Amino acid sequence: MAAAITILLVSGEVEERVNLKKAFLVEQDLEVVGETDNAEEALKMAKEKAPTVIVMDAKLGGDQPDGLLAAEQISVQAPKSDIVMVAEEGADNLFMRKAMLSGVRQVLPKPYDASDLVAVVRLVAEIAEKKREAMAAIIGTKEEEVVESKMITIFSTKGGVGRTLLAINLAVALKKMTGKKVCLVDLDLQFGDIAIMMHLPTKVTISALAREIADAGELDPEILMGHLVTHEESGVSVLCAPIRPDEADLVKGNHVDQILRQLKEKFHYIVIDTPSYLSDTVLTALELADQILLLLTMELPTIKDGKLMMEIMQTFGYTEEKVKVIMNREATTGAFKKKEIEETLEAEVIATIPSEGAVVMPSVNECEPFYLRSPDSKIAESIREIVKIVAGEEAEMIEEAAGEGEAPKKKGGLMGLFGKKK
Ligand SMILES: Nc1ncnc2c1ncn2[C@@H]1O[C@H](COP(=O)(O)OP(=O)(O)O)[C@@H](O)[C@H]1O
Ligand SMILES: [Mg+2]
Repeated sequence: MAAAITILLVSGEVEERVNLKKAFLVEQDLEVVGETDNAEEALKMAKEKAPTVIVMDAKLGGDQPDGLLAAEQISVQAPKSDIVMVAEEGADNLFMRKAMLSGVRQVLPKPYDASDLVAVVRLVAEIAEKKREAMAAIIGTKEEEVVESKMITIFSTKGGVGRTLLAINLAVALKKMTGKKVCLVDLDLQFGDIAIMMHLPTKVTISALAREIADAGELDPEILMGHLVTHEESGVSVLCAPIRPDEADLVKGNHVDQILRQLKEKFHYIVIDTPSYLSDTVLTALELADQILLLLTMELPTIKDGKLMMEIMQTFGYTEEKVKVIMNREATTGAFKKKEIEETLEAEVIATIPSEGAVVMPSVNECEPFYLRSPDSKIAESIREIVKIVAGEEAEMIEEAAGEGEAPKKKGGLMGLFGKKK
């Protein structure tokens, strides 16, 4: 189905806006997504909604800036939209030239027929689409639009149960098995380990991003993307935790809310690692998640706290679909049986991860996800099973042959790994 053409109406006259809306209402492929009489609001709406076309009156009325000035601002700051300007009767050549210089695509002098306006809007949208396609051909690929995104928050009430290990390897496996865009977010703001465990530079972190949001009042998508680092070996994008624990306080719940909502528009999968306490930022990550993976080990205190957490999440109204339990370090001696744990938690354990120190330990110490390093291990296999649960049909095995392309070995002493900067 062809994408609908979305329209923003900007006019000082209510009557004119009503007429314009009427003209578009009967057209099935055209949709008015916003209207305003205010230049500043028009710019804000253009940035937020990125309408295909902005139909704008040359005169905005009151003490508003000239429509051409507003058009120039919009065309520079919201370049995804094209502007059609409705001009006063008898608009001369000079006006036309100024309009073109302001980034206006077409000028329609008053009085005009509704059908003329509809035709002009369609034409402008059509040209814009052709231009996008041509640009994509030059760049190589048309940027894949993220239409459906899945956010997975990994949580546990205890430290050391393997959240970070799971978050990293799940993100890497999701990338490898689905080929989709994957982002990994380290919300363990005080002692986040993802950067070191993946051998990533920590020049840009979530605390720098929080500062940007606090300064600007809102999050610019480009600034967000500029704060992600790519794990070259897998292609996973990562938002790292602050380098120092005292920077954790800079990151507030509303920052995390904005960050995660925007990531949802850019990535197919977002995997979030958390600390073992409930803070504003963690609650935001739980709330926005499509899937919460509660990670437990087979020990009494962990299970007791897990049960408590299940009850808390029930009071939040989270469904069985949303919350899934995973058991790490499956053990046979001295441990509870899976069935006993399920009865206690009143929830199914959907997957178990074996304890495999011989694979995990060198992977952690050499900063290379075990999923890449030891793809044939039992623990890597268990991650593949989790990917299939999380990603469903999408998890076709498009993974390159196991072992292909040896990842580079890390050099230098132990301390050389800390605070790596590019
Ligand atoms: N399945 C496992 N097999 C072997 N070792 C594991 C396993 N899961 C966790 N570990 C060990 O536990 C340590 C802590 O895991 P980590 O992911 O950092 O926990 P958390 O993020 O929950 O605090 C890891 O560095 C690893 O040595
Ligand atoms: Mg951790």
